Amino acid sequence: MRVLVTGGAGFIGSHYVRSMLSGAYHGYEDAQVTVVDKLTYAGNTGNLPIGDPRLTFVKGDVCDVGLLRELLPGHDAVVHFAAESHVDRSLVSPGEFAVTNVLGTQSVVDSCQLAGIERVVHVSTDEVYGSIDDGSWVEGTPLHPNSPYAASKAASDHFALAYHRSHKLPVMVTRCSNNYGPYQFPEKVIPLFVTNLLQGRKVPLFGDGQNVREWLHVDDHCRGVQLVLDGGTPGEIYHIGGGVELTNADLTRRLVELCGAGPDSIERVADRKGHDRRYSLDDSKIRVDLGYQPLVDFDTGLAETVRWYRDNQDWWQPRREDLFRFPRGW
Ligand SMILES: NC(=O)c1ccc[n+]([C@@H]2O[C@H](COP(=O)([O-])OP(=O)(O)OC[C@H]3O[C@@H](n4cnc5c(N)ncnc54)[C@H](O)[C@@H]3O)[C@@H](O)[C@H]2O)c1
Repeated sequence: MRVLVTGGAGFIGSHYVRSMLSGAYHGYEDAQVTVVDKLTYAGNTGNLPIGDPRLTFVKGDVCDVGLLRELLPGHDAVVHFAAESHVDRSLVSPGEFAVTNVLGTQSVVDSCQLAGIERVVHVSTDEVYGSIDDGSWVEGTPLHPNSPYAASKAASDHFALAYHRSHKLPVMVTRCSNNYGPYQFPEKVIPLFVTNLLQGRKVPLFGDGQNVREWLHVDDHCRGVQLVLDGGTPGEIYHIGGGVELTNADLTRRLVELCGAGPDSIERVADRKGHDRRYSLDDSKIRVDLGYQPLVDFDTGLAETVRWYRDNQDWWQPRREDLFRFPRGW
């Protein structure tokens, strides 16, 4: 079995690769893994067990059709994680999101089609649906993306599914809620807040803090992706949810407490433009069809995540320095 993983040096992709190489996925204990990653600011080979004889790392861009056509033959499956992934960046440099997320995905599915890849998973997000005040989205809910990031992911989903309908490419699309866990780049809310607090700084809470997000541990997400890779039906969309909904204010209070800081470390800042109020996925399809259920208890997972950042300052300190070198439109 040979699996090619795009974006495998980022937060979620690297967790997936580490899990596969450590034998966590039944039937893939001997799989050879090829990672293709451009190593943008968000990707780092330090997230991967470089030197593992079952891992091949290739620095490359998913928009590079020539590279993909050269690499793909001989692979049985592709899991496509590579993307520009941060909403706030998409508000200031949307072009990069259109190129990587839309053109990059079209290039991946087209190259998979030409190479005759048997199983392809395109990893997407709940943000393609927009915002929902009550209830939860099902897989057939019409898309209504609000941010340039969400728009680019919605377009990428359409490309992936169109390649199934036009060419019978055996591709499945997964849409998950907000992930948390170790190795997440410290621009996203949990690692940004935790690393701020560990450095004795304040944390910037957007608007009234009442935006609601559904939290999913990265290990549960990756298990869900693997279930879809293994048993999903081509052309289908699968939600992967965490089931834990929290307002940003509640999440912030928990992080402040876990880091041993006080309520005065919370600073209210102007709301994000077009900030979606609430996300909520109905993930009964993957639970019923593929036997998925999240296993990581949120309180335990969050406490372990905070501990990981506390114990791994060498990992995040240089990344924070990189982060604050960017012009901060967010
Ligand atoms: N993090 C979340 O909470 C979340 C939630 C829902 C969906 N997703 C989706 O999951 C996927 C992975 O997200 P993440 O949080 O790990 O992102 P990330 O930003 O941590 O990692 C993205 C990776 O893709 C690589 N990359 C970027 N552009 C590339 C290109 N042109 N060619 C090759 N590699 C490129 C980066 O170097 C990086 O290693 C994305 O598709 C994202 O949309 C993430």
